[in-house]
Amino acid sequence: MATLTQSSSWKNLKKLYETTGLHLEMRQLFSEDTQRFDKYNIKLETKDGPVLFDYSKNIITDEILKELFQLCRECKVEEYRQKMFNGNKINFTEGRAVLHTALRNRSLQKSIKVDGADIMPDVFRVLDQMKKFSNSVRSGDWKGYTNKAIKNIVNIGIGGSDLGPLMVTEALKPYGKNGPNVHFVSNIDGTHINEVLNKLQPEDTLFIIASKTFTTQETITNAETAKEWFLNKANDKQHVAKHFVALSTNTKLVTEFGIAKENMFEFWDWVGGRYSLWSAIGLSISCAIGFDNFEQLLNGAYEMDQHFQTEKLETNVPVIMAVLGIWYNNFFGSETQAILPYDQYMHRFAAYFQQGDMESNGKYRTENGAQVDYSTGPIIWGEPGTNGQHAFYQLIHQGTKLIPCDFIAPIETHNPIRNHIHHKILLANFLAQTEALMRGKTEKEVEDEFRKEGQDMKNNTLVYHKVFRGNRPTNSIVLPRITPFTLGYLIALYEHKIFVQGVIWNINSFDQFGVELGKQLAKIILPELDKVKPVTTHDSSTNGLLNFINTHRTW
Ligand code: F6P
Repeated sequence: MATLTQSSSWKNLKKLYETTGLHLEMRQLFSEDTQRFDKYNIKLETKDGPVLFDYSKNIITDEILKELFQLCRECKVEEYRQKMFNGNKINFTEGRAVLHTALRNRSLQKSIKVDGADIMPDVFRVLDQMKKFSNSVRSGDWKGYTNKAIKNIVNIGIGGSDLGPLMVTEALKPYGKNGPNVHFVSNIDGTHINEVLNKLQPEDTLFIIASKTFTTQETITNAETAKEWFLNKANDKQHVAKHFVALSTNTKLVTEFGIAKENMFEFWDWVGGRYSLWSAIGLSISCAIGFDNFEQLLNGAYEMDQHFQTEKLETNVPVIMAVLGIWYNNFFGSETQAILPYDQYMHRFAAYFQQGDMESNGKYRTENGAQVDYSTGPIIWGEPGTNGQHAFYQLIHQGTKLIPCDFIAPIETHNPIRNHIHHKILLANFLAQTEALMRGKTEKEVEDEFRKEGQDMKNNTLVYHKVFRGNRPTNSIVLPRITPFTLGYLIALYEHKIFVQGVIWNINSFDQFGVELGKQLAKIILPELDKVKPVTTHDSSTNGLLNFINTHRTW
């Protein structure tokens, strides 16, 4: 294939968009075909109950879907999928395999090779180390320097070394009742660590320093601050061993920091930062909810991996989500994608996939270095329902932009207070929103309402303001309950959606060079914040900002 936009399926889709897609009205499609839901939903049985994926409220027909799957075939999605699971070095800019799936490969027989060596024994070795460690912390066997059990854990990391464990421990809070309190420090802003440390005592606090590279400025600075705080009280470097552990690929820097090798939990360069919560980076999760629950998280992801790997494209949920995203992103010109979980515990889910999706697919070069002539990764955003409804849904309903939305809702809540009344209202809102976004409200419906209320219709322009255009696409994912298993399942689903889109766009979803330039420049600027004389080496804006700070600072 020359370039994506020259492929026959792309051209066909473009035509289909102009002749069909642009004119489709979902409301009409639903009234013409009462079986539409039956046609466009997938029910998947899982250990924790059935998961329903409803994609009927999308601006699609059989013909459009057929062409979208054809696009996948032309882009060799199935071949790339196999390459990923096999450990081929599909991260082509860094020459690395992409094997987060190996971290949750629960089939004990299956070996996975990188550079000719089976990596599964290492995976199981570290899982075992995590199990022993989290069990001993949770049971109180792991003692601090004054012989006290650990009550507080502080995970110090950023990006993939923070967002995953943070999102999961929040989402699975009901499973963490008997575990230690887990805190997260990521921002270099000293306020973050200060606010956390102010609440803690060194005697019963354990620091998990999570950094794949162990060079990340924010993490290493926060870790040094934590060590200084700890030693101020503990007063003996030997005590560090009982209160600091590291999750990293970099043994040398970990030991130089002062953390003993036996307190390091290893992972490998074939684990991408934003795909690393399944690795040693999940240690804070395992400490918070227990290793058995952490394993359930892996099991759930593994089940989704198997679905993704073996299911044909037409009934493969991550593939369907990916092609729907392509349809809106590349043909309707949608720029964003909202993720809207109707579950308070999932309040960091969209933030987690901001990194997952945007750091993966925010790229503009294809495999051979050419510049793309099509739009790539969407802007991901979202908040839990119903908070979002009272904040930004107005724009989704009546704004000028088409925003495809994923709704995620569990049938059962962990907090069925007042005889489920809260949860029933929550679910009613989820259902109502997807219905409203699809149906909209016609002029005639508004007028009928006005008449019923006895309002004068003459010159009443208010009617137009109350019309909802509708035809706003949504996916609905209904889970039995948010459990470690179903959460693992859901996260893996989104990971694979991102993967499929990256393959179609022919970009590398697994590097992140875009974050480097800012880091480099910050290193140059840091010493300039100590200068007394005006700085003149940057552009006039940067010089101006820097000199303004330098003139007015008190430090
Ligand atoms: O800033 C980008 C990034 O490299 C992410 O990809 C990564 O998750 C994060 O920084 C943290 O990196 P590390 O785990 O090496 O500290």
